[in-house]
Amino acid sequence: MMNDLMAKNGNPRHIAIIMDGNGRWAQSKFLPRIMGHRAGVKTVKKIVEFCVEEEIEVLSLFAFSSENWRRPKKEVQMLMELFIGTLQSQIDKLEKNNIKLRIIGDKSAFSDKLQNRIVQAEKQTENNTGLNLVVAANYGGHWDITQAFLKITKKIESGELQAQDITESLISQHMTTSDLPEPDLFIRSGGEQRISNFLLWQLAYTEFYFTETLWPDFDKVAFLDAISSFKSRQRRFGRTSEQVDNSQKPN
Ligand code: IPE
Ligand code: IPE
Ligand code: MG
Repeated sequence: MMNDLMAKNGNPRHIAIIMDGNGRWAQSKFLPRIMGHRAGVKTVKKIVEFCVEEEIEVLSLFAFSSENWRRPKKEVQMLMELFIGTLQSQIDKLEKNNIKLRIIGDKSAFSDKLQNRIVQAEKQTENNTGLNLVVAANYGGHWDITQAFLKITKKIESGELQAQDITESLISQHMTTSDLPEPDLFIRSGGEQRISNFLLWQLAYTEFYFTETLWPDFDKVAFLDAISSFKSRQRRFGRTSEQVDNSQKPN
């Protein structure tokens, strides 16, 4: 679903963030990398609160990529523990704040304990109607497209669909975020300017914002800077500038 319509106050409806720079933040303070990840969780809490205040519809956070398994075993293990612990300690608060939590990614690679926690947490918040909080864990944009293809292929095999039914909208409907608007604003902290296999299909018309600020230092001011940069841009979706100007004039 392409977001031709913006939220009334000009805020992005869906913000997707690559929370990068935890390790370098810790290293700059001569701390172990895990301390950076812990500080990163604190930033997540603040940004979630802020999105609730600003009535943002969807916040998608990249927490662990399908490539992050390549890190040292100890760091991966600590990240998993931090993930389990945070889910456990925050779920009641999410519930109270009317937040609907969803974890996207290949969850089959996680321990049974983590998988159960995820199912429980999603169930506990499934009827909430406020912020949609999407956490990407063991997620890869290539994986998302692949799982959509597999689902479609199974439907073709069973006769539910035919090859000529494959359209862009059908593929969108099989992506893990099919029921959500596509991201309007993509933010990456930590200075790198790449997508690192985050939401590939969904970012087709997203506005990109990169900042040097490391994720643990990313605060309300940094977030407001990103939103104000977004608001200053003209989204043309292939049209000319004049067409967009005219369509925004009252009749
Ligand atoms: C992002 O911070 C968090 C995860 C990938 C889990 P990094 O750990 O990548 O931090 P840097 O890039 O090493 O500073
Ligand atoms: C991207 O960060 C993944 C997450 C933030 C979870 P990385 O730090 O893993 O990305 P690369 O390896 O520098 O591209
Ligand atoms: Mg990094």
